[in-house]
Amino acid sequence: MSCCHHYDLITGNEHVFSVDPSAIRFGVGALAEVGHDAQQLGLKRVALFTDKAVAQLEAVTTVSSALRAVGMDVVIYDDVRVEPTDGSFKQAARFASEGHFDGYVSVGGGSVIDTCKAANLYATYPAEFLTYVNAPIGDGVAVPGPLKPHIACPTTSGTGSECTGMAIFDLVERHVKTGIASRALWPTLALIDPEVTATLPANVVAASGFDVLSHALESYTARPYTQRPAPESPALRPMSQGANPWSDMGCREALRYTGKYLVRAVQDATDTEARHGMMWAATLAGIAFGNSGVHLPHGMAYSVAGMIRDYCPAGYPQGEAICPHGISVIVDVPSVFRFTASSSPGRHMEAASLLGGAVGNAGDDEAGEALAETIIAMMRATEMPNGIGALGYGEADIPGLAEGAFAQQRLLANSPMPVDQGDLQALYRGAAQYW
Ligand SMILES: [Fe+2]
Repeated sequence: MSCCHHYDLITGNEHVFSVDPSAIRFGVGALAEVGHDAQQLGLKRVALFTDKAVAQLEAVTTVSSALRAVGMDVVIYDDVRVEPTDGSFKQAARFASEGHFDGYVSVGGGSVIDTCKAANLYATYPAEFLTYVNAPIGDGVAVPGPLKPHIACPTTSGTGSECTGMAIFDLVERHVKTGIASRALWPTLALIDPEVTATLPANVVAASGFDVLSHALESYTARPYTQRPAPESPALRPMSQGANPWSDMGCREALRYTGKYLVRAVQDATDTEARHGMMWAATLAGIAFGNSGVHLPHGMAYSVAGMIRDYCPAGYPQGEAICPHGISVIVDVPSVFRFTASSSPGRHMEAASLLGGAVGNAGDDEAGEALAETIIAMMRATEMPNGIGALGYGEADIPGLAEGAFAQQRLLANSPMPVDQGDLQALYRGAAQYW
């Protein structure tokens, strides 16, 4: 397919892209249908994954009641750690192994859904923990076969984890975030009820909303699938296949929704149209990046979150340093897109316009700045941290941050421009302070 100049075919390179759509039910009331879905999947004994905070919300009661109403045996696991670690993944896997469940339901944000994916994996195919973790940090061994059914019910409008085959965690002893990536981890079904975002604190809506923005932007500007060498066999085609015509559709619409609704959803919890709009944007961006992959901002975010010392924003569990995923991503974004704009100025300019930026008659050489300034204005309107400096990082931290990001080769390979550690250091310096 050579639908436009962006995807011109090159001899010896990839000519084929995959469309792996997620099974999704979206709308107010979707969670109450979970009993029907669990029955359709033949489940009888279900592990319901959540965390202590989400466990207090109506969503968990709705889901557990709906499952029990159709005769399911439901056991709730609420020990999921927000921003999970290897330790919290292992603990959840032990629970799953000992419980002999025939299916899983997760109710929560990305941390909950990712933990449920990992627990399902290690309970179904027990192995040493690093076996399935992405190389070079882990062994990168392929998941042997299908997992047990997993119904994912997101309660934040951000991660898109319900639409991907990835599970992310913090490998504590190495101070680095990494993950497990496999099509086998993809949830069987996503039940997405936008009403669940009504009670989210503003800072959580902001952090998760910027994660959405970056998923869409990174997927849209990722290295085109036609720039990757052809795989030796279809089985070796990577899940992060690069930008492609299918993911482009979701990205454009997700960017348009994010531009229209993100600031509104943060500033006014009663703006139902905006909060529902962000949930749909998150879903579209999740579908897109599940089929294309993200690149530099997410690669850089891993060490920003992993090396955090004493930052803890409002709206998150207090008492220990934590950098919410969306914040660790967005602080890198303006710096990255100033750098990558020359790879596809038209796409960068179009993204700025879709986000609502006033791009006017700006030329190709101004695309990166136009996009960065559009996003910085949104960050200021929602009181996001002013770059990595505001998270406590200084010049002395930059080599370590770059080293951690350089280990994320799966993501760097999806960048529209090759980067070495020197480039990554320059990108972190560019992210120190924006205003
Ligand atoms: Fe993300």
